[in-house]
Amino acid sequence: MTEHQLKSLLEQMTLDEKIAQLLQLAGPFYKGSKDNGEITGPMAEMGITAEEIEKSGSVLGVSGAQDVMRIQEEYLKTNRLGIPLLFMADVVHGYKTIFPVPLAIGCSWDLDLAEKSAEIAAKEASVSGVHVTFAPMVDLVRDPRWGRVMETTGEDPYLNSEFARAFVRGFQGENLQEDTNRVAACVKHFAAYGAPEGGRDYNTVNMSERQLRESYLPAYKAALDEGCEMVMTSFNTVDGIPSSGNKWLMRHLLRGEWQFDGVVISDWGAVKELIPHGVAEDEREAAAKAILAGVDIEMMTACYVKNLKHLVETKEVNEAIIDEAVLRILQLKHKLGLFDNPYRGADVKLEQEVVMSDEHLNASRELAAKSVVLLKNENILPLKKEQKVALIGPFAQSGDILGPWSWMGSKEKTIQLADGLSDKTSTINIAKGSDIETVTDEQLEEAVNAAEDADVIVLALGEDSDMSGEAGCRADIRLPESQLVLVSKLKQLDKPIVAVLFNGRPLDLHGLIDQADAVLEAWYPGTAGGAAVADLLYGDVNPSGKLTMSFPYSVGQVPVYYNHYNTGRPKLDPDVKERYLSQYLDIPNEPLLPFGFGLSYTTFTYSDYKVSSETVTPETPLTLSVKITNTGDFTGDEIVQLYIRDLSGEVVRPVKELKAFEKVSLKPGESKEITFTITEEQLRYYHSDLQYTSDQGSFEAYIGPDSQHVTTFSFKLVK
Ligand code: NOJ
Repeated sequence: MTEHQLKSLLEQMTLDEKIAQLLQLAGPFYKGSKDNGEITGPMAEMGITAEEIEKSGSVLGVSGAQDVMRIQEEYLKTNRLGIPLLFMADVVHGYKTIFPVPLAIGCSWDLDLAEKSAEIAAKEASVSGVHVTFAPMVDLVRDPRWGRVMETTGEDPYLNSEFARAFVRGFQGENLQEDTNRVAACVKHFAAYGAPEGGRDYNTVNMSERQLRESYLPAYKAALDEGCEMVMTSFNTVDGIPSSGNKWLMRHLLRGEWQFDGVVISDWGAVKELIPHGVAEDEREAAAKAILAGVDIEMMTACYVKNLKHLVETKEVNEAIIDEAVLRILQLKHKLGLFDNPYRGADVKLEQEVVMSDEHLNASRELAAKSVVLLKNENILPLKKEQKVALIGPFAQSGDILGPWSWMGSKEKTIQLADGLSDKTSTINIAKGSDIETVTDEQLEEAVNAAEDADVIVLALGEDSDMSGEAGCRADIRLPESQLVLVSKLKQLDKPIVAVLFNGRPLDLHGLIDQADAVLEAWYPGTAGGAAVADLLYGDVNPSGKLTMSFPYSVGQVPVYYNHYNTGRPKLDPDVKERYLSQYLDIPNEPLLPFGFGLSYTTFTYSDYKVSSETVTPETPLTLSVKITNTGDFTGDEIVQLYIRDLSGEVVRPVKELKAFEKVSLKPGESKEITFTITEEQLRYYHSDLQYTSDQGSFEAYIGPDSQHVTTFSFKLVK
């Protein structure tokens, strides 16, 4: 269809038909779905009529080629103008082949594999009938109490932006119309959903516009620059106004300044939530505020369908605003090729072949192994085949390692840790030891028995998937007490302990890291998780992941992140005893484990630094080179990181900002020179008047294996 044809289609639509395009409902509302439109409970209370459903524009959460095709077929039977339904779903880190959770993918620092994971997710989802995924989620996070930190790639604006781009490329490919193996992406949650006060989901977000632009907005913008088709609003307020009714956010910033012309969708129920937020009296006012602010599609509440017509009649809402929103939706349907083929990629036969293919499982295993972070290793890993292993803990034989966002994943088809280890050695004793949050004397006794004649204890611990994700916030971010009791009990046996953690957030590791000889942070590693972790435990793959979110020393430090400001009274030397400094009396300022940190079975040295110049000008960048040598016995990957600091800005500047990184793979004894370039553009920032420029003056650059252990270089920017 041409733009002209789309516009004439719009002209043929009645106001009711247009408004219904702005409504998104869940699968059960539709004829042809498993519930065949017979809805009950809260959904029935929405008061949606059969006619509204017949005209509605999009559906969420349905998948499976057969189901999608059946619903589409039924729908088109009654849709007067033959406008197909759009199918959207949360395909966040895999469809049925589940990849590690995004926070883990972040720790791989591997943009190519991240892109590949999204491409595979898109392929599985599209043959199963999905057109749009509600991903990537790119919210910047600093508070591990918030359950959704597992859905993002971490605390750094630059790294999050790079991953946002990679995911969008992977989901969308080059051309959605021709490549029906891809899906449109919807970046979320716009904006700053990752900064709720107290780390409590849906809570208020309070920050200056400068902070918003500096840290929180770049990743959404990066996704849009990569061509992301849709944006989802967040549940929180931005400067006192909930995102879904925030004109400044959507009309001024997104549509005006950023020139975004794609579809904006509210999060689930967020339009109606303008009422409890206290900015709308009723659904009518909520509808008016949301449409005027720029929300095109209302997800799962009925404020638009029940009120927009009247709002147009009373001239409170101009019909042109509705036309614009509808046209954007029609354009997206056209881009996806739905007017030519309303079933698009859905294909029952291909679905059988493609979904969870060996190729996809192998890709998931590879990315899982690269996402795991080795946090501690006192000469115990890798394990030797001849060692007798006791595998103990609630995650020893658990398929609950897919993470909370894997509604299509199958726990039964997931490779558990016990399966993975059994492929490596035949001498394993297994015991559960404790449940996630409870433990009995019998369980402890069984664990001790299993461990008694073992050479090494592998403890599989963590949080079950309900303990993170949406509405999965925790105020105490230690491992549950039951599991710490198990650790202490086994410690009494005086045998080496290797802890493997399956969890969705940086934890306070006290009670574990001090007792275990080695700790491997496996996050939720996905469908092939048990195999990937076993590869690492036995040294078939060398750990290379590095943290993209700091692990706090204790929850009292939160938020703790590497790119903080210095304050006027910084505590520069941890050993100095002076009172009037910015510090805690009882714990250090530094996190337990910093951003960028992760161990390997080999060692790398950094040497032969070369700096091209002591100045950067707008015309001449500076280059910094370093030689990385693998000085250990294993082939390994090192993630070399470049940070900078502006020593004197017009506003305060972070003590470090990641500007570049490179991942190198080196055999024992091998070296490679890495060169980073620092340009004037990388030194720009938002000033107090929100201008994005750089200032002349002194800077430092840092190169190192993490954000704390770095070598410093000084340079000046001359303009
Ligand atoms: C609510 C979540 O916040 C959002 O991330 C998700 O995409 C929608 N529900 C749809 O399932």
